[in-house]
Amino acid sequence: MNVTQRQTALIVGASRGLGLALVKEFLERDWSVIATQRTPSQELDKLTERFSGTLRIETVDIAYAGEVRLLRDRLDGQQLDLLFINAGIARSIEATPATIDEVDFLSMMLVNSLSPVRAAEILRDLVPRGNVIAIMTSELGSITNAEDGWQCYSASKAALNMLMKKFASRYAEDAYALLLIAPGWVRTEMGGNEATLSIEESIPLVVDTINANLGLPGLRYLDRFNRIIPW
Ligand SMILES: NC(=O)c1ccc[n+]([C@@H]2O[C@H](COP(=O)([O-])OP(=O)(O)OC[C@H]3O[C@@H](n4cnc5c(N)ncnc54)[C@H](OP(=O)(O)O)[C@@H]3O)[C@@H](O)[C@H]2O)c1
Repeated sequence: MNVTQRQTALIVGASRGLGLALVKEFLERDWSVIATQRTPSQELDKLTERFSGTLRIETVDIAYAGEVRLLRDRLDGQQLDLLFINAGIARSIEATPATIDEVDFLSMMLVNSLSPVRAAEILRDLVPRGNVIAIMTSELGSITNAEDGWQCYSASKAALNMLMKKFASRYAEDAYALLLIAPGWVRTEMGGNEATLSIEESIPLVVDTINANLGLPGLRYLDRFNRIIPW
């Protein structure tokens, strides 16, 4: 494929885990990727050796709106086929609202709920009408399917889903494909060793799901098999 025809993705939160795997998967499928880290990631650096010319590394912490605005300025003139905000944290997963450290609760609301949608707001003018803005949510963000466990993390993903619904109605005329994607329970630093899926069992399906939604306007909350999850 000619370099000028490559599709371009910005993947935010790509230093390790699912974000790093998304970067690899898109590069292997001949996309150009701009991948962000908070602090230098050796794994991302290694990928630049293999994909020189199609991988660009940027640095941003989405908890700081000013850093996201600076990233937006550095990317001026870029046209993104896909903006994918993957960054997220899990803190005090065993705790309940009665026992959780308040800073842990607030950190999850800041990083998982507010910051991804705020980043989408700041970066969206790099995404032409009709292209894709995706955010990594979780099956645990479904209020309909809620069970015990990971209580405040689940609440932060449900809040993310709600903020994305509001974003979708604000920008309905831009006909973006707006995707809230749940990758399954995956063995990463966050998912832990007990998780049911390897990264290789999840991320190629997540990328298939993105591809299946290219050019399809509207907001959808989807699992890795491109199936609708109830809100
Ligand atoms: N693993 C699962 O089972 C699972 C299931 C459902 C949903 N998810 C979601 O999938 C996403 C990735 O999870 P993961 O399992 O790959 O977790 P992970 O291994 O802990 O990786 C989290 C990634 O997010 C980045 N990040 C965290 N806070 C950030 C911030 N303020 N600004 C920018 N980047 C930030 C981290 O960067 P640093 O290296 O700098 O910390 C890292 O690259 C998260 O949104 C998570 O909630 C995961």
